[in-house]
Parts: sequence; C-alpha cells; structure tokens
Amino acid sequence: MMRIDIIAVVPDLLASPFSHSILKRASEKGLLHVNVIDLRQYGIGKYKQIDDYQYGGGAGMVLKPEPLAQAIRELSAKRAYDEVIYLTPDGELLNQSMANQLSLGKNLLLICGHYKGIDERIRQKYVTREISIGDYVLSGGELAAAVLVDAVGRLIPGVLNDESSALSDSFQDNLLAPPVYTRPAEFEGLEVPAILLSGHFAEIDKWRHAQSLERTRERRPDLMEED
Ligand code: ADE
Repeated sequence: MMRIDIIAVVPDLLASPFSHSILKRASEKGLLHVNVIDLRQYGIGKYKQIDDYQYGGGAGMVLKPEPLAQAIRELSAKRAYDEVIYLTPDGELLNQSMANQLSLGKNLLLICGHYKGIDERIRQKYVTREISIGDYVLSGGELAAAVLVDAVGRLIPGVLNDESSALSDSFQDNLLAPPVYTRPAEFEGLEVPAILLSGHFAEIDKWRHAQSLERTRERRPDLMEED
C-alpha cells in the first residue's frame, strides 16, 4: 500500500481525479491511498491566514512558512516520508523514470504552492525534492500534484493488469508508443495495417518496434539522445 498525502490550498481541485478508472481501482484494491489536507486548517489567527505580502515588494502573495511547517511536522510525526515533494515550475522536470522511481516508495508528501509560491525557508528545511510537470505556469500546484499522482499511481505494482501493462507505454523505453487500432477493420476509407490482422505475433512485434522508432525519430528525437 502506497500512501500519498497532499497539502493543498484548494483541496476541491483534488476531489475527483483519484475517484475514477485506474486510480479508483488502485484504491479499491488497497494499493494506493490518497489523502488531501487543507492548508487553511493550519492558518494563523481568526482569519486562518496562510499567505502574506512578499518581503522586498513585488506583486503576488507568498504562502507563509508557519502553517506549512505545522502541517508538515504533524504529518511527519505519523509516518516517515520517502520524499517531501514541492510542485513548482522551477523544479526538476517530471519524466517517466522519475515516476517509476517514485512508484516504489511507501509514503509521499506533496506540497502545492499558490500565488508566487511558498516561503523559501520551507524549501530549505522540509522539502526533499522539487518537481515541475512542464515549462508553463499553473495557477496552483494542485493540478500538477494530480498529474504526478496519476503518473506514479498507475505504476504501483499490481495496479495495472496485463492488458494495461505499463511496459508498452510511451517513454517506458525512451520511445513513443506505436499507433493502435480497434474494430472496425475499415473506417472512413482507412484500413488497419494488414500486419496487425495477420496473426504473426513476432512480425507484429517487429512492426510495432519499427513504428515506435519512426515516431520517436520524427516527433521526439531528443528522447533517443537521452542516456
Ligand atoms: N505549479 C505551478 N506551475 C507548475 C508546474 N508547471 N509544475 C509543477 N507545479 C506547478
């Protein structure tokens, strides 16, 4: 059983993503438990303040350190986290090999930022890893956390069955996946490649591999240059 705790500013954004399809099955099978914590409950004073103006001036609020520290300390007292991950556009770019690695962990704590981000001292003292889901800026870390949980959750051993095995996914071997077809054999004048109907599984494997190579060379040659 893997457990993922997520500290969120807008927990509602995380209400639905884990209740469908493969992640729903993962939770029903007892393989993944996702728990969302509302940062507001650790807010300061009567108004449960969680953000504040940034020192030095400049537009945009920053998440205050105390509520985050309190939440992280409370959660860390209950279980040991493999990683405390802050989702941020200036983090390490998420890729499939990171997802593979994270899926082997037991407990993960994810922190979602908002506005201009979180006080730098939280990053220094509590965060063990910083991850970006791409070179663009979201309005908060929640959707990024949902992406990370999806990418990691489906890789937890036992979550996927044979048919949906991760082994044939794009990126699993630094290659994009080949094209796929289902019935009917002819659709709007386009036919399924004959090889796929041939029943020659060794030939089909070869064809798929060749298609993967071609696709990757055309669309993402950068993948083929990686380690
Ligand atoms: N928060 C805002 N933008 C983000 C991104 N691209 N990746 C991760 N977290 C984010």
